[in-house]
Amino acid sequence: MSQPQRPPFTRSTDRRIAIIGSGRMGRGLVRQLAPYHQGLLWGSRDPQRLTAAAAELGVAGSVEPADHDQALRADVVILALWHRDAVTFADRYADALAGRIVVDIANPFTDDFEDFTLPETTSAAEELARRLPGASVVGAFKNTFWVVLDDPDFPEGPSDVLVTGDDPAARRAVIELLTPLPFRVLDAGRLANNRTIERMTLLGRELAVRHGHYPRISWRLLGAADEQSR
Ligand SMILES: NC(=O)c1ccc[n+]([C@@H]2O[C@H](COP(=O)([O-])OP(=O)(O)OC[C@H]3O[C@@H](n4cnc5c(N)ncnc54)[C@H](OP(=O)(O)O)[C@@H]3O)[C@@H](O)[C@H]2O)c1
Repeated sequence: MSQPQRPPFTRSTDRRIAIIGSGRMGRGLVRQLAPYHQGLLWGSRDPQRLTAAAAELGVAGSVEPADHDQALRADVVILALWHRDAVTFADRYADALAGRIVVDIANPFTDDFEDFTLPETTSAAEELARRLPGASVVGAFKNTFWVVLDDPDFPEGPSDVLVTGDDPAARRAVIELLTPLPFRVLDAGRLANNRTIERMTLLGRELAVRHGHYPRISWRLLGAADEQSR
């Protein structure tokens, strides 16, 4: 498949972040990011619910509830949605998302969590990028189970977040935004690496279930370079 042409992302300061979705991952991301990113936009199909949700998470003062259209004021839009819904969102807002960084966290699992809805020749992140030729799509948090998002520390060290993307400036920008968080954030290269990364999540799940630790498991590459770690 030929790669669509994307303009490089050049803005380097004061990036406004939006998180779309108020499920397990959306809530966890809001809780982690709000202390570091004032004015975080939290987008939902039903934003009325988000004021109470933000209060529950202890971040009421630093989060602005928004509908999907309002959330698109952000420079960096994190889609905490299932792949099928992320695709629908991308198709609907492709024009508005042009020139922005779109962070994809989706693993394209079947409903029974036994397999993938996409063939091994692609990934959710690449499929999203194909639909957003004007945006810079960056993959992150694909391996972070929701309970780990709330508490990323393990006896072996903090959980890894693998950040991927074909636009190096956008990838660096996301690494920068995530660096204050209590994870080890690693530059994981091109978007196509999500063909492996997304499959690591399902393998991790299978191993965790077999050994009785699901969902409190995560990946951490031993011996990895420490440049982005805390
Ligand atoms: N759960 C995990 O441990 C985990 C780990 C790594 C990656 N992920 C990935 O993270 C993504 C979200 O997972 P999750 O566990 O947070 O799912 P979830 O709890 O089901 O939340 C998904 C959210 O998406 C929004 N949504 C639902 N249907 C929608 C639609 N038709 N159109 C637009 N938005 C819709 C809803 O938010 P509103 O009601 O606010 O609109 C919903 O709360 C998935 O792609 C998953 O693969 C999950």
